[in-house]
Amino acid sequence: MTDRRPAAVIVLAAGGGTRMKSQTPKVLHSIGGRSLLGHALRAARGIQPEHLVVVVGHGREQVGPAATSVDPAATLAVQEEQNGTGHAVQVALDVLPPLTGTVLVTYGDVPLLAAETLQELVRRHDTDGNAVTVLTAGVDDPTGYGRIIRDAAGAVTGIVEHKDATAEQRAINEINSGIYAFDVGVLAEALGRIKTDNAQGELYLTDVLMIAREDGRRVDAVETRDTWQTEGVNDRVQLAAMAAELNRRTLERHMRAGVTVLDPATTWVDDTVTLQPDVTVLPGVQLHGTTHVESGATIGPDSTLTDVEVGAGASVVRTHGTGATLAAGASVGPFSYLRPGTVVGERGKIGTFVETKNARLGPAAKVPHLSYVGDAEIGEGSNIGAGTIFANYDGVSKHRTKVGKHAKTGSNNTFVAPVEIGDGAVTGAGSVIRRDVPPGALAVSSGPQRHIDDWVQRKRPGSAAAEAALNSRPTSGDTDPDASTAPGADPGAAVRADQGRSDAPEENHQ
Ligand code: UD1
Ligand code: CA
Repeated sequence: MTDRRPAAVIVLAAGGGTRMKSQTPKVLHSIGGRSLLGHALRAARGIQPEHLVVVVGHGREQVGPAATSVDPAATLAVQEEQNGTGHAVQVALDVLPPLTGTVLVTYGDVPLLAAETLQELVRRHDTDGNAVTVLTAGVDDPTGYGRIIRDAAGAVTGIVEHKDATAEQRAINEINSGIYAFDVGVLAEALGRIKTDNAQGELYLTDVLMIAREDGRRVDAVETRDTWQTEGVNDRVQLAAMAAELNRRTLERHMRAGVTVLDPATTWVDDTVTLQPDVTVLPGVQLHGTTHVESGATIGPDSTLTDVEVGAGASVVRTHGTGATLAAGASVGPFSYLRPGTVVGERGKIGTFVETKNARLGPAAKVPHLSYVGDAEIGEGSNIGAGTIFANYDGVSKHRTKVGKHAKTGSNNTFVAPVEIGDGAVTGAGSVIRRDVPPGALAVSSGPQRHIDDWVQRKRPGSAAAEAALNSRPTSGDTDPDASTAPGADPGAAVRADQGRSDAPEENHQ
């Protein structure tokens, strides 16, 4: 018994899960960023078995591919009819080559079971030389579970299902978790002898214990104090309870590793997320998928990040982000929407009410206010004025906009892609940039400003606006020297006058 590597783990996942009342098979419901089956497979793979078999039945056209996508090395065994747990294990053994050593059985709907617990089960099974070792738990309400039957000396003699139990047996609160280590030879032989003479007319895997015991083999139980690890999900109430407990454990793990979580009650972090020490997570944050946050960064309050990489010392405030990468010292939010392909350089900024998609910002590049940046590249140190739209879509296809380094674009610009704004270029407020702007140039495209004098007084006589205008009538000599254009007058005069004054960029937001 020196080699502790188990021959196989069999994960049972053929059951219906009708109490979920769902189109989705039960084991494909998720908590903490992984399906229930995903959690079960991770624990099973964690003890490095030679074979990992998933028994599928109900919804197998979905469950099968999901299992092999999580664990490509897993083998599928199809249980056409769910004739009981004993039958399910038989179906699994049928797809495996002849084995020797230890085989474990677990369930696809028990998500908090840890690989360490399975490892400890195998260790006890091996060192005690058991034929069967069952994982058990003492619970307050054992209703529905199989009960562990022990003799006067405390040795395990069998398991009785709730439906088959006497009143006396039902008083036992040590329950069968359904997780076992078996000597595969004993298991295979005993499975050939189990019958359906029970309350449910099923082939009970639990009967293997009694048979082994009657044959004089060693049968024992390992009791876990952590009852969450043995608990299955049957309905959505349990799903939520398990999700909360998993989250609590995940946050505790991060806090012990040096992450500040200000309000664990409103913070949800997927099992798959990685956080470095000295990350600060403020209230109302959800971190999902492959999100990774480096030291010194602050996330929150009220932010949801999925598959986002956050660099050291970055700050992300009230942001919804997916598939984005933020370099060290970047600043995002409040109220930013980062869509896939957003890359923010070191000390770069995406500010308030800004949406980005497929947008690369160089170091210290900034989009501080009220903008949409789609399919764009913004060079180092450039600043995009407030209210800028990168018009990337012409109704047929998407095009890119490139802004060079140290450019400064005016407020309320539209960049009609494909278009390029050169290094160091400047654009005036309200410009619609349709043609490339050469490096260092000032581009101004907004139309000339025209004044139609006394329009309000004539069109809205007696209104508050007209009164206000009348009361502020310029005293003589205070009139605008520009050509004020009445309707029908030569508009060219106004254009020429305006152009004469457009040699300075309008004030921009920073
Ligand atoms: C089983 C145990 C019971 C234990 C309980 C723990 C038996 C006879 N009873 O009862 O002692 O306390 O689990 O939760 O084993 N499955 C299949 N194919 C089948 C039947 C079940 O794959 O034909 C799978 C289910 O998808 C599920 C697991 O096996 O993941 C357990 O099945 P379930 O019907 O929930 O067993 P219980 O009656 O709860
Ligand atoms: Ca069950």
